[in-house]
Amino acid sequence: MAAQNIGFIGSGNIARSLVLGLLAKGRNPAHIYAADIDAGKVERLVRDHGVNAAGHEQIAQTCDLIVLAVKPQSMSEACASLKAALAGRGPVIMSLAAGVNLARIGELLGSGLALARCMPNTPALIGTGAAGLYANENASTEQKQDIEDLMNSVGICVWCELESDLDTITALSGSGPAYFFLFMEAMRNAACGLGLEPGVAEKLTGQTALGAAELARASECGLVELRAQVTSPGGTTEAAIARFEQGGLRQLVDEAIVAAAERARELARENG
Ligand SMILES: NC(=O)c1ccc[n+]([C@@H]2O[C@H](COP(=O)([O-])OP(=O)(O)OC[C@H]3O[C@@H](n4cnc5c(N)ncnc54)[C@H](OP(=O)(O)O)[C@@H]3O)[C@@H](O)[C@H]2O)c1
Repeated sequence: MAAQNIGFIGSGNIARSLVLGLLAKGRNPAHIYAADIDAGKVERLVRDHGVNAAGHEQIAQTCDLIVLAVKPQSMSEACASLKAALAGRGPVIMSLAAGVNLARIGELLGSGLALARCMPNTPALIGTGAAGLYANENASTEQKQDIEDLMNSVGICVWCELESDLDTITALSGSGPAYFFLFMEAMRNAACGLGLEPGVAEKLTGQTALGAAELARASECGLVELRAQVTSPGGTTEAAIARFEQGGLRQLVDEAIVAAAERARELARENG
């Protein structure tokens, strides 16, 4: 990683997971800075992991990669406290906030800065995240590599060609864990309805989801082939899949993801 110092504005869940990811990759905590309006969250990071507690100004003045890890509604206030101290400096600033586009962040921080956006997801908290990234033309190849290294420390990441692709990624992987939780909940409840004990149904549902995801990741055949391998003609899986198809599951998933992407665009308009 080329960035000497990495700073977090906001030290909540996602910032904490990124700090842990960096440390697991061997990053020296002396080069990590954390700020938050809740001093307790920073103190915890300092106490548990030896990073530096810092003010917004200090982060703006000393860090090469600055992560805006605050909620969208806190973005204006967070940027206002960085703006003056950024004058004359050239760090890359990456926002994690959904629905706040780079034009808006540029308005809040000033023009000419290297800016990036990241749409992470909650599995980043356990190192299995999937993130979409987008950077403006001021971000150098080296700065983009630093961002990639940071996000790869908590999972995988992909760069988008267009900022608008982040709305699709929000709908796919940002919100995606909740779709799987809903499906798992429905599977567990169906098994309970057939008489299985809830704890057993939940355990088997979770392990099945994990196994299916791992198999899909490890296998060289695609999703269609993997499904075919479980679906014997006239068998149990075929009976279930036929019912899903009759019920319009594909259409429903399509509509749900389109609705989530549209909501991401609406939020960007509201925040812009
Ligand atoms: N968690 C995820 O997996 C995930 C997934 C997708 C996107 N994101 C995005 O990532 C961002 C961070 O999420 P999170 O889950 O880490 O949120 P979080 O746990 O609420 O952490 C944000 C922290 O920032 C603090 N804060 C608010 N205003 C601030 C300011 N002006 N300066 C410094 N700190 C400030 C908050 O304090 P208070 O609580 O006192 O306000 C809070 O401690 C959000 O924009 C979220 O939408 C997160």
